[in-house]
Amino acid sequence: MKNLRIKQIISMKADNQEMTVHGWIRSFRDSKAVCFIALNDGSCLSNLQIVIDRDKVDLTNIISDLTTGASVAVTGQLVASPKPEQPVELDAQTVQVLGPSPSETYPLQKKRHSFEFLREIAHLRPRTNTFSAVMRVRNALSFAIHHYFQEHGFLYIQTPIITASDCEGAGEMFQVTTLPLDNIPKENNSIDFSKDFFGKKASLTVSGQLEGEIMALALGNIYTFGPTFRAEHSNTSRHLAEFWMVEPEMAFCDINGDMDIAEEFLKYIISHVLENCEEDMAFFDKWVDPGKLEVLQQIVKSSFTRITYTQAIEELLKSKEKFEFKVEWGIDLQSEHEKFLTEKVYNNPVIITDYPKQIKAFYMKQNDDGKTVRAMDILVPRIGEIIGGSEREDRLDVLTARLKDQNLPVEEYWWYLELRKYGSAPHAGFGLGFERMVQFVTGMQNIRDVIPFPRAYGSAEF
Ligand code: 4AD
Ligand code: MG
Repeated sequence: MKNLRIKQIISMKADNQEMTVHGWIRSFRDSKAVCFIALNDGSCLSNLQIVIDRDKVDLTNIISDLTTGASVAVTGQLVASPKPEQPVELDAQTVQVLGPSPSETYPLQKKRHSFEFLREIAHLRPRTNTFSAVMRVRNALSFAIHHYFQEHGFLYIQTPIITASDCEGAGEMFQVTTLPLDNIPKENNSIDFSKDFFGKKASLTVSGQLEGEIMALALGNIYTFGPTFRAEHSNTSRHLAEFWMVEPEMAFCDINGDMDIAEEFLKYIISHVLENCEEDMAFFDKWVDPGKLEVLQQIVKSSFTRITYTQAIEELLKSKEKFEFKVEWGIDLQSEHEKFLTEKVYNNPVIITDYPKQIKAFYMKQNDDGKTVRAMDILVPRIGEIIGGSEREDRLDVLTARLKDQNLPVEEYWWYLELRKYGSAPHAGFGLGFERMVQFVTGMQNIRDVIPFPRAYGSAEF
């Protein structure tokens, strides 16, 4: 006798084969002679209908435990269903309650719950339709990411989570210390980090890029895919304090190659989800973000719009739109500007290049104009920036000057500079915010609802 998941079962031909199914009751309906259980096991959105003939199966001792949320094991025969919306159902022979779920207190009732409420019960929200669908799409995306890079000869590299360098130079790092916070050792009034665990100041990584560059400049093409941490105090629907980032780095590659790969990669992982998560994507298209499927299908076929930062500013200045943040050359584009460009002006993903050097990280390659750098951000509708990347500064003298310009401690980047001293080569890469990608594909509004256990400013539950 087989032990199958519901996803497999509902695609099988019904020829009375016997099987055991495990899952959680979504609903129970008692109509005296026959009872029905809608059973879900998390393998797919669909429930399996269990039909219990009271003359064949004695429920006397367990019927009060057959409530929403209870876990059960059901053995029965797979038969054709009379209902058109489901191909098969299970004709039960035995029903066993493994874990009852008192209905007076079970928080997941059959009605729709708000996402805010579900965040408070993150231990139970994977049992809802929306959240389980998000997790399956998240899984498919992460598989597709590895698949794309493995197929294209990129090596998967694990970069450190604890680090002593601030990759983005933005000072948004969580410190890692074992120093006693109530009695911090001081030397001339400043903290004596030589007494700390690593003998120096250490933090959680904001990006694996710098270490990724080391590996790319030896191995060719690499990618990282891991957690990153940013102590940004921004309480928005697109920011987390702990999020996952995919960071490929390519040797002998310039900004154009960088954009080509990023565009191909995004289309590839979207296609994978469209092909492999049909049921879940139809659910999002119907209930969460109507029209999403068409948008995604269109994007896979489209060519992304490529413009420079200067052109983007001109477009924004030309528009009649009232922005909260004033537009002028030199500003960092705000989410409202990004969304306006991708949703209203181009109605397409947009790649913006050649940003002013003042608003970008020290490692980006300077253009000959001395004012801009070879950065590229990819913006998509609803989200804004989903990818940030650049060609890297590969000239030792220019890079050293940039570090000094930004008041960064040049000595601490000695190894990063040596990569430019010994066998420097053009190279480029980008970072995809994984949660923003899950948000984009599913249409979920809040980034806290696309990660199992969100960590954000003021919140680290579960
Ligand atoms: O643009 P960012 O800061 O770029 C880097 O970290 C580079 N080192 C990447 C590289 O070139 N290797 O971040 C990359 C992406 C953003 O485009 C965004 O999608 C996501 O990471 N991201 C966040 N996602 C969730 N919460 C946050 N607080 C995020 N900050 C950035
Ligand atoms: Mg960025």
